[in-house]
Amino acid sequence: MNPSTICDPSGAAAAELKEIFAYYAGQRDKKDQDVIVQMLKELQEVNGFLTPELKEQAAQTAEVPLSLISLLIRTYPSLKEAAYTHVITVCSGERCAKKNGRQIAEIVRRELRIGKNNLSADGTCLLKTQNCLKQCRTSANFIIDDVLYSNIKPEQVPDILKQALSAQK
Ligand code: FES
Repeated sequence: MNPSTICDPSGAAAAELKEIFAYYAGQRDKKDQDVIVQMLKELQEVNGFLTPELKEQAAQTAEVPLSLISLLIRTYPSLKEAAYTHVITVCSGERCAKKNGRQIAEIVRRELRIGKNNLSADGTCLLKTQNCLKQCRTSANFIIDDVLYSNIKPEQVPDILKQALSAQK
């Protein structure tokens, strides 16, 4: 598996999200609040919840401030933001890939039972990828919240996750 596909909505979901943004970008009344809410509902239907990235893209599409998107989400209880408390960023750069980066990403995914919405099974962790964390000399690397973990070996990943996530709760 290519780790660069792990955290971004991929395949059908990504295409559907793109289609939704393209459709609403072309609407004359795209700034109308009812239209924005409809767009947010459709995005949520595809992705399961609204991420900061989707909110930002929705604001750009509707050409309204991000604060209006947040206000609408708070106003409509059927709209839901992601409730994760941890963000895990796995490096998908070449140098980390050479040091088992792909395997590490797969172990993170397996240990946290990451679903296709990039959330862990318990909803507390969001998995993202970044093409190079600018720490190539200490490959392989990943970040849990703001903490960088370097020189990681695949077999260390389960313990690192366990310790980091329980310590940061
Ligand atoms: S490739 Fe992973 S930090 Fe640069």
